Amino acid sequence: SRRITVRDIAAAKQRGEKWPMLTAYDAMTASVFDEAGIPVLLVGDSMGNCHLGYESTVPVTMDETTLLSAAVVRGTRRVLVVGDLPFGSYQEGPVQALRNATRLVKEAGVGAVKLEGGERSAHQVELLVSSGIPVMAHVGLTPQSVNAFGGYPVQGRGEEAAQQLLRDAKAVQDAGAFAVVLEAVPAELAAEVTRSLHIPTVGIGAGLDCDAQVLVWTDMAGMTSGRVPKFVKRYLEMRELLGGAAKAFAEDVVGGTFPAEEHTFH
Ligand code: KIV
Ligand code: NA
Repeated sequence: SRRITVRDIAAAKQRGEKWPMLTAYDAMTASVFDEAGIPVLLVGDSMGNCHLGYESTVPVTMDETTLLSAAVVRGTRRVLVVGDLPFGSYQEGPVQALRNATRLVKEAGVGAVKLEGGERSAHQVELLVSSGIPVMAHVGLTPQSVNAFGGYPVQGRGEEAAQQLLRDAKAVQDAGAFAVVLEAVPAELAAEVTRSLHIPTVGIGAGLDCDAQVLVWTDMAGMTSGRVPKFVKRYLEMRELLGGAAKAFAEDVVGGTFPAEEHTFH
């Protein structure tokens, strides 16, 4: 059995098939999603919030994303692994983008990379794609720009912003991206973008009409503490379940009921 490739992703849009994507940050969790049949895993820079304890994605480094991307590749057999390029690893220009994307491909073994931005990142996308590195783009709400946005507001509201979003999505398609994430975009606009493109749109907070949907796995599994965005659906209460297991273990140890006879060597 071979890995899923960007050609399979292109074929899915031709057939009108929707597909799911999740994030993953470690080999073991990634193997669960691989065995569950998730076709594409994103080693997102959301690792900053979810895995590394930062307050945003902004501090994430190439060393961190390379390490965790390599773990996800090692933990999986079938999935297409997409490595996210962190803030500061491609903004200087196409040559910097190529150097860092090449590192993710060579050292971590990812099958594609992702970067944020539409028109502003089109030159980066073009050089990566012409160098043989498939690129997933990301427009709408781009969390690496949190300091410019002043938070995480919904994007593309109003005629001017909607036209800009359409231009951004077309720009990365024209530059050769194989897919584009639409984050926090009104459903009607995301549907229009999806109809206008021949590459798949991957929605997160972008309504039902995108070609694919992505969620951050810790949000999807109910592992994240505190508030999660409106667009998240929690399929499991993992935080509660895991906390319950830890409490039960603690009680057994304190109460002297673990280890039992069956856990003991003589
Ligand atoms: O880093 C991430 O998890 C992402 C997805 C939300 C698209 O960019
Ligand atoms: Na990201």
